[in-house]
Amino acid sequence: MGSILIKTSVPGPKSLEIAKVRENYVASTLESLAPFYIKDGKGAVVEDYDGNRFLDFTGGWGCLIVGYSPKRVVDAIKEQSEHYIHTDFTSIPYEPYVKLAQMIAERAPGDFKKSVAFFNSGAEAVENAVKIARGYTRRKGIVVFDRAFHGRTLLTMTMTHRAIPYKYAFGPFASDIYRLPYPNPHRNKFTPRDFERLLLDSVYPEDVAAIVIEPIQGEGGFNLPPQGFLEEIRNITEKYGILFVADEVQSGYGRTGKFFAIENWGIAPDLIALGKSIAAGLPLSAVVGNKKFFDALPKGSLGSTFGGNPVACRAGIEVINIIEEEHLLEKATYIGKIIKKRFDDMQKKYPVIKEIRGLGAMCALEFIKDGDRWEPDPETCGKVIQDALKNGVLLAGAGLHKNIIRLLIPLVITDEELNEGLDVLDRSIGDVTKQ
Ligand SMILES: Cc1ncc(COP(=O)(O)O)c(C=O)c1O
Repeated sequence: MGSILIKTSVPGPKSLEIAKVRENYVASTLESLAPFYIKDGKGAVVEDYDGNRFLDFTGGWGCLIVGYSPKRVVDAIKEQSEHYIHTDFTSIPYEPYVKLAQMIAERAPGDFKKSVAFFNSGAEAVENAVKIARGYTRRKGIVVFDRAFHGRTLLTMTMTHRAIPYKYAFGPFASDIYRLPYPNPHRNKFTPRDFERLLLDSVYPEDVAAIVIEPIQGEGGFNLPPQGFLEEIRNITEKYGILFVADEVQSGYGRTGKFFAIENWGIAPDLIALGKSIAAGLPLSAVVGNKKFFDALPKGSLGSTFGGNPVACRAGIEVINIIEEEHLLEKATYIGKIIKKRFDDMQKKYPVIKEIRGLGAMCALEFIKDGDRWEPDPETCGKVIQDALKNGVLLAGAGLHKNIIRLLIPLVITDEELNEGLDVLDRSIGDVTKQ
């Protein structure tokens, strides 16, 4: 028997009751992919209040590398809560903060001393990486890329590319942000060697504090840098005294088969922003990087009331233990191979799939109407997501044009569940494209 089980219409009666209350009280701008309300989650499977079961291939938008509610994380959260839930590390310090900082620092790439500071969200981590870079260099400029996603606070919203809906009338935006093209074989002829010229066309490099880049773009559609691109950026940051900041909020923590995505390129960034999966879904994010950058800032210049909350840090310690004891880095590579093979088969059957890409378990399909003009097909993509949902699988869309499906599967998924979910995706593409 499979793990998917659809017993009622979706949403079922119990979910509909909650939805009615939501209509009256919850801000209408909040959109949910699922029309049902979750009652339980285990591994990659969620169950709603009406007893329907689904496979969650969005993994809570990439936060559940270790799956829903793993026992040792739950136990650590319970145990920690019974001692103390909060102090604020700048009021009374506590060991879980120190221990998790040590665990992350010891795993971060680079032959130099590292420091770690904790925050609450990915956006906050990126924003603090920018503060550290500006504070250290005393420069203002921040370079970002086409199709980047860095968050929704004022600064990170400015750094994010996609305007609709993220930037809706929310300006004025932050200043000193320079956006450069991201190499894309279908849309520009930009090669890694062009990067320095493009940078010099846009800004004096001596004014640039940091280049912030996702080693693999997440929200932008799992775009991989072409060979030599990240290396070229690293060369340029060294040449001009600019900090290399890797935004690994989505790509980090094992999803690519390495603990840090940037390790796939053998690069040691100056600073790395982490978030999403680092505490199994509790709000926790971090900046890890060269100690000298943190040491250059005045005491008290970074912080946050809840940042590095003890319960979240205890969860974070268990996340790393699970990744290592359950060999989830190897599992990411293994899962990626299964997905790649299944995607290849789908591409052969369905011409609307024009590109498959990814690294490790970070895999995506791109839907294109016209291959010559590389015209995105968000309609087919949206219909496939809806059809798969009806049949028990939650899928995440991506891309500036919403024509990409990206998989953010919990790495603890079983082979049977993975294949069951991919069967649904395969059938949904077939059903939608034959209509
Ligand atoms: C690469 C990247 N950076 C930053 C963020 C922002 O994280 P948060 O939503 O936790 O603020 C995200 C969220 O999707 C992300 O994917």
